[in-house]
Amino acid sequence: MLLFASLDTPVVYLIRVQKSRGKSRAQDLQRAWSGSLAHSTCSLTPAATALALVKRHRLQLLLYRLPNIFFPPDRAVPILARHMSSQSFKIAALAGDGIGPEVMAEAIKVLRAVEKKFDVGFTIDEAPVGWAGIDAAGKALPDDTFELCKGSDAILFGSVGLPDRDPTIPKEERPERAALLHIRKEFSLFANLRPVKLPAALAHACPLKPERQGDGIDMLVVRELTGGMYFGQPKTTEVVAQKENVNPQDKKKTRRILRIERAIDTMVYTEPEIERIAHVAFKAAALRRKKVCSIDKANVLENGVLWRKVVERVAKEYPDVEVDHMFVDNGAMQLMLNPTQFDVMLCENMFGDILSDEAAALAGSLGMLPSASLGSTEGEVTFGFYEPAGGTAPDIAGKNLANPIAQILSSAMMLRYSFGLNDAALAIEAAVGTAIESGLRTGDIFSESDPKAKRTGTSEMGDAIAGAV
Ligand code: IPM
Ligand code: MG
Repeated sequence: MLLFASLDTPVVYLIRVQKSRGKSRAQDLQRAWSGSLAHSTCSLTPAATALALVKRHRLQLLLYRLPNIFFPPDRAVPILARHMSSQSFKIAALAGDGIGPEVMAEAIKVLRAVEKKFDVGFTIDEAPVGWAGIDAAGKALPDDTFELCKGSDAILFGSVGLPDRDPTIPKEERPERAALLHIRKEFSLFANLRPVKLPAALAHACPLKPERQGDGIDMLVVRELTGGMYFGQPKTTEVVAQKENVNPQDKKKTRRILRIERAIDTMVYTEPEIERIAHVAFKAAALRRKKVCSIDKANVLENGVLWRKVVERVAKEYPDVEVDHMFVDNGAMQLMLNPTQFDVMLCENMFGDILSDEAAALAGSLGMLPSASLGSTEGEVTFGFYEPAGGTAPDIAGKNLANPIAQILSSAMMLRYSFGLNDAALAIEAAVGTAIESGLRTGDIFSESDPKAKRTGTSEMGDAIAGAV
């Protein structure tokens, strides 16, 4: 239980901290309250601040607006300030499989450097997921891991899935569906942002000829993440017929029983689902080069027709943002021919899955690409899930070879979108730039022909970025 005295009105707030979160949670909240008080002089009143804290940390507001007989207003600040010095955020760090644990360690190193430089604190709780979850607790998303996610401000995710492991585990229980898709759906993480940027120093790593790279590739794929074919029902494989196959030449009329299976995935979108992701794309474009290219297959799919109609409608609310539409097959080709034409590319779930990997290849290495999966924003708080795009890369796991930059940049996205710490996010991004400029290269972005390039390992790259923060 925490007791807070208000400065604006003679009120005391009693906030109940959920038991499972223990003492450290209470301390976090005290720090958060202090950080918020600093803001309160300019915008938020302490009353609003208390309510915001309750909401952000999903706490129970037990009783409020009691007469403040406990602390006269002039004593309230010193009493609170003694315990508190910064904003605090709770992060669930789920490293997962393959290279996940190695790159996660580097991201945590960088977050610790951020804590030293900025007035902010992170409580980082690590928990198993994916095959690590199956090994530790028999489930790709163990119950404790899921609970930890629910009690956190954001999820920093590594990667899951090792295709060669145990084929007897059914597809529904394998990490991709049981952990990744489950988390996306449970937390309604409908907006997936995948920024693709080719730094000038890495132009050699892009598979396209220099003349196709123009002034540099810098685009954002906005992928709808909780609808479409990934989740539409029915989704099943069933036996539809058992046919007798009689060979006319066979005098004995031998009969062969054929068992025919059919697989069904359903592509389904409702107008509100399209609308909300379209708003995300237009808002993002308004802060960039103000162009949205919406991808669909309106020449064939009902979904495509509806998608285009709704995107057109939403576009009217953003007169400063230019919109055009492209069929997905053409979009795939244009990415190869003229990628610099794209600013924000808006896609439904499966098209976005495919095109974001294609776009990622343009940035030289999947090891450079972060992503954010966001739910809806409540007040100023957006719950988010942050993961590198690259996957588990089992062939290089455990060898200090993986590129940690995608994981580190994912943590920068977390600071920006879920915690509102834009300066800290910029500091991480600048530090990554500094490390690249200094010539440090993990194997995936190393080139013999670059005289500045110095081959480096996962942890050395993390050290350099943390140092530059
Ligand atoms: C991605 C991945 C996932 C997806 C897989 C691992 C389920 O490819 O995040 O792009 O298809 O969404
Ligand atoms: Mg994918």
